[in-house]
Amino acid sequence: MAGEIYIGLMTGTSADSLDCAAVEFSDNELNIIGLKNYDIPSNLKEEISENTRSKELNETLIKDLDLRLGEFFSDRVEKFITSLSLKKEKIEAIGSHGQTIKHEPNSIPPFSLQIGNPQLISNQLGIKTIANFRDDDIAKGGQGAPLSPIFHKEVFAIENKKRVIINIGGITNVSLLGGAKLIGFDTGPGNCLLDIWTKKNKMGNYDNEGSWAKLGTVDQDLLDIMMKDNYFSLEPPKSTGPDYFNLSWLQDCLMKLKREIDPRNTQATLAELTASSLSNSLKRLKIVNENKYVCGGGVHNKFLMSRISFLLGGKCYSTDKLGLDPDYIEAICFAWLAYKRVNNVKFNMSAITGSNEKVFLGKVYLPSR
Ligand SMILES: Nc1ncnc2c1ncn2[C@@H]1O[C@H](COP(=O)(O)OP(=O)(O)O)[C@@H](O)[C@H]1O
Ligand SMILES: [Mg+2]
Repeated sequence: MAGEIYIGLMTGTSADSLDCAAVEFSDNELNIIGLKNYDIPSNLKEEISENTRSKELNETLIKDLDLRLGEFFSDRVEKFITSLSLKKEKIEAIGSHGQTIKHEPNSIPPFSLQIGNPQLISNQLGIKTIANFRDDDIAKGGQGAPLSPIFHKEVFAIENKKRVIINIGGITNVSLLGGAKLIGFDTGPGNCLLDIWTKKNKMGNYDNEGSWAKLGTVDQDLLDIMMKDNYFSLEPPKSTGPDYFNLSWLQDCLMKLKREIDPRNTQATLAELTASSLSNSLKRLKIVNENKYVCGGGVHNKFLMSRISFLLGGKCYSTDKLGLDPDYIEAICFAWLAYKRVNNVKFNMSAITGSNEKVFLGKVYLPSR
C-alpha cells in the first residue's frame, strides 16, 4: 500500500507515557507501520500533575512546561522514526494531542488547554504538525471532547450491528456505534482516581491488575456519596477530566463519610465507581445486549474488567479482538485526525460534543524552515 504516512502522539490524562503510532493511509485504508510507547520522565510527570491539580493556572510555569514537553515529544518522535527506519521526508504530518492541563468547556470563556508546543515539534523535526484539536469545536459551542467516537466509528462500525466501544484511560468514554446517530461521551472516572489512591498509599503508580482493590470490599455508603455527584446524572453531551475527578474530589467524599475506612476498601469502592458509572450510563441509554469492546489502560485491570462485565451482564472484549491494539487506539486516532485535517475534512460533531456547526479538528503548524 503506497499511501501517506502520519504519526499520532498521545499522552492521555493519566500522563503515564507518550504513545506513538505510525500509520499509513490510502483511500481510507489504514495500515499500522509501528507502535511504541516512551516513559515520561518522572520530573515532567510530577510537574504535569501539579499543574493539572492546581486551581489557578501559573502562566510562566505552564509556558516553560509547554516548551519542555515539546522538546521531549520531538526527541522521542525522532527516535521512533529512526527505530522504524523511516525517513522524515516520508512523513506527511504529526498529529499531537498534547498533554491536557485543564479542560473547562463549561467555564466562561470555555477552554481546553493542551501543552507540548506544536510549533516547536514542527520546527525541530521539519514535519508539519497538527495540534489543538479541541479549540474550534469549543469555539463553536461544543465540549471539545470526546473526539475518539468519530474514529471508533471509522474503524469499528459495521452495518446493521450495534457496538459499544469503551475507552478506559484516566477518564472513561464510550462510543455507541450503529444507532440512528453516533453517540459518544465521558461516563466519569476511568483509572484516574484508582491511580491517585494507589500512589497516595505508596502502592505503586497504578494498581497492577487491580490486585490491591481485590483485597478490599466495596463500601456502599462511600459509593452512594460518590455516585451523588452531579456529573453522573447529567445528560450527554458531556465531558470531564482529572482536573475535576482528583484527590480533592476524593477527599471531599471521604470527609462526607464521617468515619474511618480501610484504604483497600476505598480502592475497591473506586473501582466500583468506575464500573457503576459506566454501566449506569449504558443502561440509561438502554444499551444492554450489544457487543462491548474495551480499549485504554483499564483493559489491563482484571479486577475492574470483571466488575464491569458483571454489572453489564456480559463479557466485554478487548479491541484486540477487532484487530487494533487497545493501548494505541488513541495514538492511531490522532494520526487519523491529522490525516483528515491535512486533507481539509470538516466534521459534524454536534451529537457528540454539542457544537453547532461543522468544524476542523486541529490547527496546522508548518515548520519555519
Ligand atoms: N497492568 C495494569 N493493571 C492495572 N491498571 C493498568 C495496567 N496497565 C495500565 N493500567 C492503567 O491504565 C492507565 C493508563 O491508561 P491509558 O489508556 O494510557 O490512559 P490515558 O489515555 O489517560 O493515558 C494507567 O495509569 C493505569 O491506571
Ligand atoms: Mg496513557
